[in-house]
Amino acid sequence: MASKAVLSLSFISLAAAQAAVWGQCGGIGWTGPTTCASGTTCVRNNDYYSQCIPNANAGTTTTASRTTTTTTTTRTTTTTAAAVQTGWEEVIGEGSFNSFSSFWNYLYPWGSDHNGSARMKQDKVSTSGGVLTLRADRLSSQDGYSTANPKPAIWYWSGAVHAKATVVINDQFPNWEIRGEFKAPTSRGTWPAFWLTGTQSWPPEIDILEFKGDTTNWFNTFRSSSDVSTTKATVGNAASTWHQYRIWATKANANDVTVHFYVDGDWKGQHNAAGFVNKPMWIIINLQMEGSSGSPGPGGSTTYQAQKVYVGRSRTY
Ligand SMILES: *[C@@H]1O[C@H](CO)[C@@H](O)[C@H](O)[C@H]1NC(C)=O
Repeated sequence: MASKAVLSLSFISLAAAQAAVWGQCGGIGWTGPTTCASGTTCVRNNDYYSQCIPNANAGTTTTASRTTTTTTTTRTTTTTAAAVQTGWEEVIGEGSFNSFSSFWNYLYPWGSDHNGSARMKQDKVSTSGGVLTLRADRLSSQDGYSTANPKPAIWYWSGAVHAKATVVINDQFPNWEIRGEFKAPTSRGTWPAFWLTGTQSWPPEIDILEFKGDTTNWFNTFRSSSDVSTTKATVGNAASTWHQYRIWATKANANDVTVHFYVDGDWKGQHNAAGFVNKPMWIIINLQMEGSSGSPGPGGSTTYQAQKVYVGRSRTY
C-alpha cells in the first residue's frame, strides 16, 4: 500500500510539471511548466511566450537542418543543429468548430465585457455542422454597466469566442493567412467583429471584419489610438450570404508588417502595420452591440455566424 501511494504522488507531480495543449511553456518571466503534454511540442512564439502546439499542427512540408562550419588555422569544427520542420503549417483548420474546445475558448480573453452594450455569456455560443453561431438577445431590464471603457449600460447578452492559439509575426513565422466565412448582421446597433488585438499591449489591433450597423466592412489597422489605417468595403448582402473575409500578413522589415485585405478573394487594400513584429495577438470573434454601431439596437435576437475559419503560417526554423 505504501509504495502505491508514493507512485501516485509522483504521477501527480509529473502531470503538474507539464503544460497542457496550447498552454504557455516558456518565455521571459515565466515560472510555470516548461515541458508539454504528450502529443504536443513547445514552440516559441516570441521572447515572452512559448506555447504547446499539437504535433499534428507543427509543420509537415519539408525538413531542413542548418550546418555551421568554423575553420581556424588549427582546427575545423562542424555543428549540425537538430533537424527542424519548416514550410507552411496550419494553426487552425477549417473544421475547428467541429472540435470547438480544442481550438477555442468562450468570452473575450479578458472576460465578458468590452466596448458596447452586450455582456458575453457562454450559452449565447453554439456550434453545429462546422458553423459557429453567436446570438445576441435584448434584455428586458438593464444588467448594470460594462466594466470596460467607455462603460456603456448593458442591454444585451451575447456571444464571443477567442482562439487558444495566438498570432505573432516574426522571423520564425514571417507570413500568416487568417480568414473565414461569415454571415454578419448589418442592422443599426449590431457590431460584429473578427479581429486581432495585442495579448501584452494595445495596439497592435487588426480588424478583419467589423460592421458598424450598416453594410460597410471596416478593415482597420491601429498603430495607436490616433494613427489608424482604414479600408472600407461594401458587402450588400453580408447578413444573408456567406462571404469570405481574409488577411495576408507579411513581415516587411525588422519592425513592420504589411497586411493585405480581401473580401471573397478580391484584394481591397494594404496597410503598414508599423511596429507589429513580435507583438502577439489574440484572434477574437464577437457580436458586440450598440456603441459605434448606433442605438437603439434590435429589440429581439440577432445572430452572427462563422464557418471555415483558417489560420496558417510559414515557419522558417
Ligand atoms: C471596439 O471593439 C471592436 C471589436 O469588437 C474593435 O474593432 C474596436 O476597435 C473597438 N473600438 C474601440 C473604440 O475600442
